[in-house]
Amino acid sequence: MSELTLHEVEKRFGNTEVLRDLSLTVGSGEFASFVGPSGCGKSTLLRIIAGLERATTGEIRIDGRDVGRLEPVDRGVAMVFQNYALYPHMTVRQNIAFPLHTIGLPRQEVEQKVAEAARTLRLTDRLSHKPAALSGGQRQRVAIGRAIVRDPKVFLFDEPLSNLDAALRGEMRIELAELHARLGTTMVYVTHDQVEAMTMSDRIAVLNAGRIEQVGTPTELYHHPSTRFVADFIGRPAMNMLTGQATATDNNGITVSIENQEIRVPVDPGASPPKPGSAVTLGVRPENVAPAETGLRAEVQMVEYLGGVSVIHARTPSGQRLAASLPGAVNVARHAVVGFGFDPTDTHLFTPQGMAFRRRAVAAAALPTFLPTADGDAS
Ligand SMILES: Nc1ncnc2c1ncn2[C@@H]1O[C@H](COP(=O)(O)OP(=O)(O)OP(=O)(O)O)[C@@H](O)[C@H]1O
Ligand SMILES: [Mg+2]
Repeated sequence: MSELTLHEVEKRFGNTEVLRDLSLTVGSGEFASFVGPSGCGKSTLLRIIAGLERATTGEIRIDGRDVGRLEPVDRGVAMVFQNYALYPHMTVRQNIAFPLHTIGLPRQEVEQKVAEAARTLRLTDRLSHKPAALSGGQRQRVAIGRAIVRDPKVFLFDEPLSNLDAALRGEMRIELAELHARLGTTMVYVTHDQVEAMTMSDRIAVLNAGRIEQVGTPTELYHHPSTRFVADFIGRPAMNMLTGQATATDNNGITVSIENQEIRVPVDPGASPPKPGSAVTLGVRPENVAPAETGLRAEVQMVEYLGGVSVIHARTPSGQRLAASLPGAVNVARHAVVGFGFDPTDTHLFTPQGMAFRRRAVAAAALPTFLPTADGDAS
């Protein structure tokens, strides 16, 4: 089990700054994700950790040791790529064994490690096939097998599931999470898909243009985004962002005028709310919005029926988008003008620069708790 530390890592390609002042410690055994939009520097960061690319400045430490000048093979990390990078002319067995042959491990030990990895990844009956005869999910498991046999200190995953269809991605997320639980190895995962990051990670770092916007557990990022960018990126359907104006403030709260409605919102202790007259953005998640007689009026544009939930997409008179996510099916006509309400304590407030000065508070007691049954047996 190994700890990975990034200390003030910066990367420039010529004059282009790709990573800036990036510092983070991934704890021993932790599953950490870097998530962010295309081009924000995720692959560059992983390649720097793997040693395929040099940081312009800053340090990469594994268990306290600076590995920045070590060759990739000497760092004790294994990387799994989006495109699998398998050798097409080799069998599954040969592909998985490949890194072990290159370090000259005795044949018997190689066979044992390959058999063990194949068992873990349910590939035993595929060992003599070539990659072309495998499904996408099986190919990605071979690529993971090739990483496992090296017993790395740290696993690095670069969007390993993005070539798979939605159903298989869902299955593989669970398999990867189980693999992490079984191996207990430190894992760093990069993806542009917030669902993957949310479902598998102990902690997530949200990257925006090469900079970390916020680091936190999935629930922290969902409930307490510190910037509008994070609020927007985490959670689907995305948080509603309604622009308005601060009309009155005091130590306990702020009154915000949105579409000519006054909404009184408490602010975080210690936060300095903007002066009356300044622009603010009020964020509220679609799952916290419900039909209300006295709420904001908006015209229904369409209803997305997803089975378990329905998402109503509407527009306010001034053209702001408003979505509400409700359980089951809903009975509302297109173009109907209806009222949408929400509890002010469920809202977030952002400055025009995108900084949060009110983050929704959520009581731990509100989380449902499942208790194990007496004999711990699910059957
Ligand atoms: N070798 C290079 N030379 C010049 N610029 C590069 C090089 N490699 C990456 N970049 C630039 O660095 C930025 C970050 O690229 P990177 O591949 O790390 O993004 P990413 O977050 O992985 O994106 P995606 O989600 O599309 O995979 C991009 O603007 C890219 O064009
Ligand atoms: Mg990438």
